[in-house]
Amino acid sequence: MNVDGKHYRTIWLKEDDNKVVQIIDQRPLPYEFVIEDLRTVDDVAVAIKDMHVRGAGLIGATAGYGMYIAALEAPKEGFDDFLNKAGEKLKATRPTAVNLAWAVKRQLDAVSKGSSVDEKREIAFKVAKDIANEDAEYCRRIGEHGMKIIEEISKRNNGEVVNILTHCNAGWLAFVDFGSATSPIYAAFDKGIKVHVYVDETRPRNQGARLTAWELLNQGVPHTVIPDNVGGHLMQHGMVDMVIVGTDRTTYTGDVANKIGTYLKALAAKDNDIPFYVALPSSTFDWTKEDGVKDIPIEERGAEEVKYIQGLCEGEIKKVLLTPEKSPATNYAFDVTPARLVTGLITERGICKADKDSILELYPEHK
Ligand code: MRU
Repeated sequence: MNVDGKHYRTIWLKEDDNKVVQIIDQRPLPYEFVIEDLRTVDDVAVAIKDMHVRGAGLIGATAGYGMYIAALEAPKEGFDDFLNKAGEKLKATRPTAVNLAWAVKRQLDAVSKGSSVDEKREIAFKVAKDIANEDAEYCRRIGEHGMKIIEEISKRNNGEVVNILTHCNAGWLAFVDFGSATSPIYAAFDKGIKVHVYVDETRPRNQGARLTAWELLNQGVPHTVIPDNVGGHLMQHGMVDMVIVGTDRTTYTGDVANKIGTYLKALAAKDNDIPFYVALPSSTFDWTKEDGVKDIPIEERGAEEVKYIQGLCEGEIKKVLLTPEKSPATNYAFDVTPARLVTGLITERGICKADKDSILELYPEHK
């Protein structure tokens, strides 16, 4: 996707040194565009934990590259042990997005087939690139499939603007490219369909206000940032045609974990008969979990993210205190939207209902 007219992915290998992984540090966005070098597994673990990178797909791709860096760092003696420990370290950084554990396992399974350390390193290099390329390609396909839903609504509206509400950032910054929730929007926009996006600000870290708005602005897509509590009102007044969100983990029964506040939007959409779609690549399915509310681990982050807010002040990025200093705060980062509130899942293989049979029909290898 574009930044000031130049195409970027969110993660790549440094051009003249493929032992270094480069990322866009998302913390200072949208005010500053900073590229960061990752050289060690510890660098990668910090980048994921402290959210230099974030979003399910990108966390997975970063973990894939992290395991490649671990393979470079590992001593010849005790190579496998080092790699396993690196995998555990990466998996411990953030608990909800299943892409992280999925990418670590994919690397460990592949590397275990190598018969020498050199061969294992080559495998880790290839798998890291495969995970990233696959993520971008799957998101592109999500765009193709999801665009048809927007096109259909546009036809019903006689070509009037299709108003889409999204929560948090499931855009290209949350993946390697294209995004999940935003990919159908970009595809529709590129096809000339009139779209407008309501962007939930998404407290406390404001990924909507900071990141989704910045992405849409760079792509030239019409959008409006709204406080988190506005969606229900817009839906009651016929101002939203559909909701598309991403997900950090979806059970094989169709329960969807996504950024905190998604559940409330799904309830409002249901009450107002507005389609509520969730876009995801298959790396975000958890094929082991049946009950999302009971079984998906929900990350709790520090209270300071709630108590302080970051923004630009006289040309400098600053954090300011929002609450009384001594008031306690809690910070649940995700919630689970039960499958019954989800109209459909948009995947790289097509669109299906959010239920076990429909999901397994698209992914029969997981039956
Ligand atoms: O905490 P984050 O920023 O890593 O959360 C991820 C998200 O942005 C959302 O939950 C998103 O909608 C799904 S990630 C593709």
